[in-house]
Amino acid sequence: MENIIIRNATLVTPLGFRGRKGDEMSQLSVVENAAVVATDGIISYCGPQSGLPDADYSSHVEIDACGNAVLPGFVDSHTHLIFGGYRPEEFGWRMKGESYMSIMQRGGGIQSTVNATRNLPVEELVSKARWFIDRMSEMGVTTVEAKSGYGLDTASEVKMLDAINELADGKDGKLNVVSTFLGAHAVPKEYSGRTGEYVNLIIEEMIPAVKGKAEFFDIFTEKNVFEIEDSRRLMKAALEAGFRLKLHADEIVTLGGAELAAEMGAVSADHLLHVSDKGIADMAEKGVVATLLPLTAFSLREPYAPARKFIDAGAIVALATDLNPGSCFSGSIPLTIALACIYMEMSVEETVTALTLNGAAALGRADEIGSIEVGKRADLIILEFPDYKMLPYYVGMNCVNTTIHNGKIVSSK
Ligand code: NIG
Ligand code: FE
Repeated sequence: MENIIIRNATLVTPLGFRGRKGDEMSQLSVVENAAVVATDGIISYCGPQSGLPDADYSSHVEIDACGNAVLPGFVDSHTHLIFGGYRPEEFGWRMKGESYMSIMQRGGGIQSTVNATRNLPVEELVSKARWFIDRMSEMGVTTVEAKSGYGLDTASEVKMLDAINELADGKDGKLNVVSTFLGAHAVPKEYSGRTGEYVNLIIEEMIPAVKGKAEFFDIFTEKNVFEIEDSRRLMKAALEAGFRLKLHADEIVTLGGAELAAEMGAVSADHLLHVSDKGIADMAEKGVVATLLPLTAFSLREPYAPARKFIDAGAIVALATDLNPGSCFSGSIPLTIALACIYMEMSVEETVTALTLNGAAALGRADEIGSIEVGKRADLIILEFPDYKMLPYYVGMNCVNTTIHNGKIVSSK
């Protein structure tokens, strides 16, 4: 936690302490010749430089933004940051035309990362993740969500969550890590053909073991993985145990995951490449954040999620990377921005809101992070350019010069 003052900034931010929906997503506040002051890691002033409170700033770290854009730090609200091994051979198989689900059904895919993850001690999972965290920080990420789900037995799921919590704020300090339990990521090979028994194991053994280690509960709700009935049972048990809900919904086929997320009051439903119109309407009505993951669609050569339909229906749309060793081995924020604008027809303003305040909403933290406002955490980025519109235009390139987390410079070119 530090005291910092940024002068000569072009402040660019969505405003508010909740997710922005529909038309609101395109409303960014832009203030030129602005300053931001952070006291003990919390924003205490932001606005025109001429309005800076008359005070002694000599104990503050001084930053001259040289007119460049200052935005809220990015929130990557969906990643599988912790994993053993890599799967480059699968990438090659997919490029030759084999489907993601066919690789999974013949024992590769998630199961292959499970085998590698079970064999790694927690320290190695942590140090591997630190390398990715350094890259994220350089791209302006100040909060990341990380899921378990490559353990799929109680001890290994606990190990993954221990790794995630080892990386949480205060220990590393580069960014904040939010933990999600994804024991229902796949049916492990020892339970092959016995999905119901594995669901029982999650409910009876895993949930009590991971309670207190994870904030969110997530499921890969998909045909031939966990279908709607199993997912509903799991979600009920998770709610009873005090978790907040997320869902991998309608990623590969239209199954009704979006409708289920709305029915169960999930905080977000994610992927949604094949969401139905009813699913979109239900999510918009219930305020379930639609977290769209364009890097996954790109990597799987699948159609992009219908961002425009969600926004036009008045939904809260977030964007995230889905960094994982299988379907989407990329954590690129610049490419996420480019794909959202080029292929999903999102405006640059909607894209910025989706990666900041609405990402925060997808983690239940819109009151704390995601915009530059007094009382919020001083998680900020300084771009290389005064104009935020450079973000998608400089396609796939990193426009972030400096990343500030809790009022402290954590990454700088
Ligand atoms: O979000 N689809 C399920 N889970 C991940 C992929 C995990 C993997 O392939 O290792 C996803 O796409
Ligand atoms: Fe995912």
